[in-house]
Amino acid sequence: MLSVKESTGESLSAQAPTLDLHEIQATVLRPRPAPYFGTHVLLRIDDAQAGRKFIRRLTPHIASSANWWDAAKTWLDVGISYTGLEALGVPQDSLQSFPEAFRVGMAARARQLGDDGVNDPKNWDKPFGSGQVHIGVSAFSDSEEKHQRALAVAREQYEGFSGVGVLAMQDFGAQPGDLNALGYKDGIDQPAIEGSGFESPPAYGGPIKAGEFILGYPGEAGIPLPMPQPDILGRNGTYIGFRKYQARVGAFNRFLRENGSTEEERELLAAKLVGRWRSGAPLTLAPDKDNPALGADPQRNNNFDYANDPHGRQVPFGAHIRRMNPRDTQLTRLTDVNIHRLIRRGTTYGPPYDPNALSEADDEVARGSMFLFMSAKAMATIEFLQQEWINDGDFIGAGSERDPIIGRQEEGATFTIPKQPVRRRIHGIQTFNVLKGGEYFFLPSISALNWLANPTGG
Ligand code: HEM
Repeated sequence: MLSVKESTGESLSAQAPTLDLHEIQATVLRPRPAPYFGTHVLLRIDDAQAGRKFIRRLTPHIASSANWWDAAKTWLDVGISYTGLEALGVPQDSLQSFPEAFRVGMAARARQLGDDGVNDPKNWDKPFGSGQVHIGVSAFSDSEEKHQRALAVAREQYEGFSGVGVLAMQDFGAQPGDLNALGYKDGIDQPAIEGSGFESPPAYGGPIKAGEFILGYPGEAGIPLPMPQPDILGRNGTYIGFRKYQARVGAFNRFLRENGSTEEERELLAAKLVGRWRSGAPLTLAPDKDNPALGADPQRNNNFDYANDPHGRQVPFGAHIRRMNPRDTQLTRLTDVNIHRLIRRGTTYGPPYDPNALSEADDEVARGSMFLFMSAKAMATIEFLQQEWINDGDFIGAGSERDPIIGRQEEGATFTIPKQPVRRRIHGIQTFNVLKGGEYFFLPSISALNWLANPTGG
């Protein structure tokens, strides 16, 4: 899938890694395997000393990004929330060096995120938003057996001594065909990171400065983003946001049936909502008919722009991927798309997508995506995306229309498909993914984890 960069090559992406890969946690750079199996474990620290001991025991088992392109298919990562840093006894001056949105947590930023109505934190699953989620440990693997072994390793580090307790565990895993909860192939596009040492498959745009994603390196503006202090704590770390969505599969299927009278029409509508066919084939490259071979081909399935589609007749301006990464689309509000990118690690939970699920009871089935996103300014980026590109349409001339996949829809919401001679405006769009929880974590470097095991140097 990925090819080794030639050290003699000319482009920036052809240089040897300049990132400290041994320090950066694996999840940041390593794509999840396909298929994948895993669990997110949420923990609470009741005693600072026990918490530090847990970090000390766990750290040797946390994988780094060294050789991230290789087929090492099982790893553990660890993220720590702001209340978790407090519970570990991190000194005040250091705590104060974290950004405000991280300090107060995702639930307290509901207004900035537009998390209202059904998405309001008061409706979230426990323990999200309670301030009690201190540590998140995730196990990723390419087989159920290896995943169970990785999980057992994590468990050995917290079991058997008091002061650290499990609040919740959420299993995740690929659906058949590596589809997400609404039946689409996902996880295709990732930003290419300069200095990461390997060449990504062909895609729109060049590599993005590492400092946009990892703390301590220059970002797109030429300077590193503000970093938590002391240096050893911040450098090579990043922020990871976690948003748990429950897919309303019944409502989604009913919407497709109400607006498409044949299977072909329904699949085309599903493709228009996202900008890709369910197979992953981009609509710009396969505008009329699905092309599963294209969808499965990493050399081709992300190598496109919107230059030949200035009116949105192939990919509607409001489609999920055109909103989330407008590429070369002319926007009504000028912005550099490279500074709003996120590393995404979607993880799907619950039963697989069922195209025949049509009832309201199907909307209540616990299935969906635990959406993980990473960046050196993840909180600011998600707030920007939620306000400007998800829950609004002005930036692409789509008025008050919202993202059809993850927008929180109002009564009477519409989705416009530009078409000749007249556009098609579809009514009855609903909130197809309901937010059930969210948290921000800091994903420290390996050295920072060692520091956190003894932050006061005592
Ligand atoms: C939980 C429900 C979600 C579903 C079902 C979903 C579905 C999809 C699908 C099918 C794709 C196309 C595959 C790809 O290009 O990798 C995609 C791409 C993408 N999604 Fe989502 N998504 C969800 C949540 C989110 C959220 C919460 C965000 C960000 C706030 C997001 C941001 C993106 C981005 C940036 C892309 C790549 C766009 C591109 O580069 O062309 N998604 N999503």
